[in-house]
Amino acid sequence: MNLRLLVTGGAGFIGSNFVHAMLTSSAGYSVTVLDKLTYAGNLDNLAGLENHPRFVFQQGDICDSELVGRILGRGIDAVLNFAAESHVDRSILDPTEFARTNVLGTLSVLEASRRHKVARYLQVSTDEVYGSLGPSGSFTEDSPLQPNSPYAASKAAADLIVRSYHQTYGLPALITRCSNNYGPYQFPEKLIPLLVTNTLEGRALPIYGDGLNVRDWIHVQDHCEALERILHQGREGEVYNVGARSEATNLKIVRSIVSILGKDEGLITFVKDRPGHDRRYAIDPSKLENELGWKARIPFEEGIRQTVDWYCRNSAWVARVRSGEYQRYYSRMYDNRQRTLSELK
Ligand code: NAD
Ligand code: TYD
Repeated sequence: MNLRLLVTGGAGFIGSNFVHAMLTSSAGYSVTVLDKLTYAGNLDNLAGLENHPRFVFQQGDICDSELVGRILGRGIDAVLNFAAESHVDRSILDPTEFARTNVLGTLSVLEASRRHKVARYLQVSTDEVYGSLGPSGSFTEDSPLQPNSPYAASKAAADLIVRSYHQTYGLPALITRCSNNYGPYQFPEKLIPLLVTNTLEGRALPIYGDGLNVRDWIHVQDHCEALERILHQGREGEVYNVGARSEATNLKIVRSIVSILGKDEGLITFVKDRPGHDRRYAIDPSKLENELGWKARIPFEEGIRQTVDWYCRNSAWVARVRSGEYQRYYSRMYDNRQRTLSELK
């Protein structure tokens, strides 16, 4: 088969897991990564692949249409667009870069994909485009797009442009919308790696609001397997939800991490809520399961133990990504955010 893949954002969390999976698969893929190496992109995530005969790394911005065009001109069969600004809290602090990379960057990759007639374009999107759920029900592919954060809005905008490229130009595009991922190489600004690394250092474990917001968790390996399946077997122009039917409150997550590490729950600290904080996400992955025969395989209890163990074994990786910019972000985000007792009552 030897498909030639362009993976944008391949030095980030999900992208790097995907690249490792593709290069160890028996399918013989060739992989070019295009990544700007923002604070979230890290060549350490691709360590070991430097001399791989079917791997090329190109540092660059997806908004640079000329560069994207040049890469596609070298011969690419399928594009997977992972590159994005991905953190809700940062999008609240500074939305502009989210519109630039997530919307204009996607447009740039779509346009080059159209000109070079790629055989497949897969947009890696998120369940956050659907907004927030009440206590029951789950998002299907037909749920309305009601994004609440600047991050979610930028991803929804990108999804609509992808749709228009399929409808207008016949680009063979697909969109996936996955729930919250966890696993190795996740930057410790997101809930699970932040809690694991803070617990290991004996630092406060900040929980927004009442801790009862619900997220639907999937191990990154299951997500990557779904992406490969959809790349090959998904129907053009379709949206596929990806999820593992594994809902949990943030309080349940923090308690399970503290318990795995054998630490005291006293580190749990309730802090001021995130503005516009979506209450609950839950993904219905029936379409993907029924049409393409995919099913998540890693139960949360097993995946979270493996993940905690990975962070314990990779303290050098953690130390490197937490140096520099991370400290400034952490102070801006969490200093003076602790709630007083009267606010909690
Ligand atoms: P991440 O922040 O870990 O990685 C993003 C990567 O994109 C980084 O390597 C960064 O350097 C790169 N990047 C950013 N701007 C770029 C630009 N202008 N040009 C080129 N590269 C650029 O994100 P992630 O968690 O791995 O998410 C990957 C994709 O999956 C995103 O599109 C995100 O919206 C989507 N997604 C994430 C989750 C999740 O739980 N993390 C869930 C569903 C969907
Ligand atoms: P996050 O990992 O940022 O993912 P998203 O907001 O995209 O779902 O957050 C997951 C949940 O954890 C969300 O409800 C916000 C909450 N949260 C905290 O309570 N404390 C934190 O320090 C962070 C980063 C998140």
